[in-house]
Formats: sequence, C-alpha cells, structure tokens
Amino acid sequence: MAVDGRDPEVFDKFHAVKFGVRQELEFPVGMGLEESRVLMAGEHAEARADGLGLVVDGVWVGVAWFDWWLVGTTDTVDVEIAVLPEWRRRGLGSRLLEVAVERARADGRNVLAGGILTGDPVTGDSAGTAFAAARGFVRKHAELHQVLDLPIVIAEKPVAGYEIVQWREHTPDEWIEQFADLQTGMSQDVPAGERITETVHWTPELIRDAERRRLAQGRFTYATAAVHTASGELAAYTQMGGTPETPDRLLQYDTYVRRSHRGNGLGIAVKAPNLRALQAGVARPAVLHTWNAPENAPMIAVNDKLGFRPVAQRTSWELPVS
Ligand SMILES: CC(C)(COP(=O)(O)OP(=O)(O)OC[C@H]1O[C@@H](n2cnc3c(N)ncnc32)[C@H](O)[C@@H]1OP(=O)(O)O)[C@@H](O)C(=O)NCCC(=O)NCCS
Repeated sequence: MAVDGRDPEVFDKFHAVKFGVRQELEFPVGMGLEESRVLMAGEHAEARADGLGLVVDGVWVGVAWFDWWLVGTTDTVDVEIAVLPEWRRRGLGSRLLEVAVERARADGRNVLAGGILTGDPVTGDSAGTAFAAARGFVRKHAELHQVLDLPIVIAEKPVAGYEIVQWREHTPDEWIEQFADLQTGMSQDVPAGERITETVHWTPELIRDAERRRLAQGRFTYATAAVHTASGELAAYTQMGGTPETPDRLLQYDTYVRRSHRGNGLGIAVKAPNLRALQAGVARPAVLHTWNAPENAPMIAVNDKLGFRPVAQRTSWELPVS
C-alpha cells in the first residue's frame, strides 16, 4: 500500500510500525508522528518522502520509508525497511525491498541506500545489517552513535580573535549568505567513506525552506557561530535541537569549521555555548545524541571532552539497482 502522509488513518498505522521498530534500540531515535507527517505530506526543496505499507489480513506488519533526494545525491534514494519482530524471517522485508528496487528504477535512481542500519557499538551488527548483506547491499561507511546526559557543567573555551553569535530558528539575514557557504562546505567535508555523496550547494532559499519545514515539523533549533573579528568571516557553526514530541531526546546536527580557520579550537568554542543555550532552554534532563565517523578524529576528541559515550554503530549500505 502506498503511503504519502495525507490520509491520517493510514499514516498513523504506518508510523506506528516504523516508530515501534525503532524502540527496540537501547537509545532509539526517529521522528515523531507530526515531524514525519510534515515531511511526507508537504513539498520541500531538499527531498520528497513517501512510503509503503505491507498489510496482512488487515494488520500492518511492515513498512518502507523513502527519501528521494532533490539536491545533492540525486542518483540515490534512501530507504528504511522495518518489519514487526513477530513477523520477521518470513520474507516480508525482502518483499518490501523488491518493491523498493522497482520504485527506485522507475524513478531513474541508480542506487538504493540504507543509511541508518543501527547495530552493536563495536561490530555494528544487527538484524538489519544481516538482512542488508543477505540481499546484496555493500557496506560503505560507519558512524559512531554517541550520547551525552544533560545537563552538564560546561567549561566554555573562547578563542581570541573570534566573536560568538547565536540564533534560533531563523538565520539572521546578515549571515545567511555566508551560512549557506558553510553548509555547502559541511556537505563536502563530512567523512563519508565510500558512500556516494554529491555536494549540496546551499543557497539562502534552501536554508529558508529548511527553516520553514523545521517549524512546520514542530522542531526547535539552537545555532551558535564564530565570527572572525578581523575579516567579518563566519568561521564555524553548530546546530542542536529537538521536538516537544520527544522531549527527552535532543539531537546534535551539524558542526563545521571553515577550512581556513581549522586548528584553532573553534569546534568546542561553538559547541560549548550552544550546549549552554540548549540546556537552559529545555530546562529538564535529556539525552543529546550525535553521530560521527570514527576517522573524524577532531570531532570525536571534542565529543570526548564534553563527556559523550558510544552506544551504537550506524552503518551505511548501498545496492546498485540500474
Ligand atoms: C531488517 C528487517 C527489515 C528484516 O525483515 P525480515 O522480514 O525478517 O526479512 P526477510 O525475512 O526477508 O529476511 C531475508 C534474509 O535476510 C537475512 N536476515 C534477516 N534477518 C536476519 C537476522 N536477524 N539474522 C541473520 N540473518 C538475517 C536472512 O538471510 C534472511 O533470509 P532467511 O530468513 O531465508 O535466512 C527486520 O529485521 C527489521 O525490521 N529490523 C529492524 C529495522 C532495521 O534494521 N531495518 C533496516 C533495513 S533498511
């Protein structure tokens, strides 16, 4: 059954399976009902999302969620397949995958990517990775999922020659052009292993579209940037946020330092005040989640200093379909 977010009854059943399967994890993450619905029901500049439901005798037993990228990696469609535990090992995941492959080909995509296969923190293994390997996907990259219990005591580390600026949901007009450059740099420089990635060329219009989408999804965001005082250049930024739908779970989004400003301690210089603002704003205990490539040594070092601990490994897999 096709799912597009516009029929509330269908979408609730779809979401219950997708969200329910995620709860098997010790530290589950995943979008809430309204956050997901807005993505599927609306038009967005970055990607469109839709889904499939597998219904047996009126019972929703499995689902597939698709992200069809419209900018950047447009050769690829991301898919997440989930089957209820009591219905596994009966070929239902494979059935959903067959339809996913047909849909990817019909849309002219060459690669089906499974980007969020979560498993054991050391080996990365899980039912999902066993399934992916059995069905011909190739493992392309791994990221460490780390968590930090908030609130923490924060030691801020300002860097001479840089000023801190902060904003919430709306990037100030004066920074938006430079912020688009930094986000483009982020899409180029984040370690991706052998994963297929194309640069997302961020523009002020794309940023405003993403901001509108986040607001519609009920998300809140805290952003902190460092400005190089002498040149007026935006040198680094970080963003964290969450949604009232899952209040005990906060997410670290991007952290990026412009190439020409690296090696000055700007990573922690922006993260620490952002964390301070975030934990003051949410005013309750919560867990902050982050994902980083193990080879991204500077970022892991910053996270270690802040007290993050590893809880899982997330691996990315790809299946050529053309
Ligand atoms: C991954 C998942 C979707 C598989 O669903 P499923 O309906 O059990 O899949 P299938 O029955 O079609 O399994 C196909 C093959 O994958 C392999 N496989 C699946 N689960 C496995 C497991 N737990 N251990 C070892 N191999 C496994 C087997 O080779 C299996 O064939 P077999 O049963 O004939 O041996 C399901 O376990 C799930 O929802 N997991 C949590 C969510 C997740 O990780 N999704 C990632 C997919 S993008």
